[in-house]
Amino acid sequence: MSDSTWSLDLYLETRLQMVEAALDEYLPKAATLPGSLHDSMRYSIFAGGKRIRPVLMAAACEAVGGCLEDTLPAAAAIEMIHSYSLIHDDLPAMDDDDLRRGKSTNHKVYGEAIAILAGDGLLTEAFILLSSPQVLRSVSAPDRLEIIHQLSRAAGSLGMVGGQVVDMESEGQQIDLPTLEYIHTHKTGALILAAIEIGAIIGGADEKQRQALHRYGEAAGLAFQVADDILDIVAEQSLLGKDVGSDAERGKSTYPAILGLEGARQRARDLRDMAFSALEPFGSEARPLREIATYIIDRSF
Ligand code: IPE
Ligand code: IPE
Ligand code: MG
Ligand code: MG
Ligand code: MG
Repeated sequence: MSDSTWSLDLYLETRLQMVEAALDEYLPKAATLPGSLHDSMRYSIFAGGKRIRPVLMAAACEAVGGCLEDTLPAAAAIEMIHSYSLIHDDLPAMDDDDLRRGKSTNHKVYGEAIAILAGDGLLTEAFILLSSPQVLRSVSAPDRLEIIHQLSRAAGSLGMVGGQVVDMESEGQQIDLPTLEYIHTHKTGALILAAIEIGAIIGGADEKQRQALHRYGEAAGLAFQVADDILDIVAEQSLLGKDVGSDAERGKSTYPAILGLEGARQRARDLRDMAFSALEPFGSEARPLREIATYIIDRSF
């Protein structure tokens, strides 16, 4: 596609459709025993997420000359892990939210026990998929192991799960900016960075490209959560598809709470600029990554 006809909407839409198909292929069918569990896993997965992590993985792979189809199993896996984190994040023991992706949260429909187990199932399914000999055939065995290592590290206690713990422990507290940055880079940034790093590995990036994409991923990942905090205040609930005002209600530590709304917006713009500058070594092949950095901070849901 020529530069003048390129559109981010079309780019996102085509990749989203491929990810939907991959998720449908790789997840156990709803009727597979136990039906309640698989139905619940599919309910949250197919409730309509933006699929930004899979899209970033594809864009990073394409930026280094790789083929987007090769990312699909890992893209499906990261979306399973992300969806599990949302199911658990919404539980009464955590953020206690009723609305997610425009629908009732998983525990509201299936009950807390199945919601917990659906999350456990999705997390495990991701690694069953990545370790299956039938998938990621274009990736060498050492690269496959590195992908599994990156993803599990990003999801675990030194990554997303650790961020979720500090997020909860900081409810109702006055925390400093470094602690807030720890929460955001871990609970959200880690998985976004992993998506980009995995895309780079699958695309066959060299060391310099990997370092540049790492810098991009760190900035984009943090920017994504700063924007999420802003949206919790300013978004239309019907468009956002989740409870607006939930952070203030729970006394969450957020960027607007600490820097004010304009300070948070400025921080998001600064992070977008850091993401742009990390992409300087790349040419037009990184256009999707550039446009996604802008989309991350300007989105309305
Ligand atoms: C929401 O993630 C939770 C965060 C980590 C900020 P997304 O905004 O990517 O949610 P979906 O997948 O589009 O529903
Ligand atoms: C969620 O952060 C991060 C994870 C689920 C890992 P939030 O609690 O801010 O996400 P939303 O706003 O409920 O989507
Ligand atoms: Mg939360
Ligand atoms: Mg939440
Ligand atoms: Mg939020």
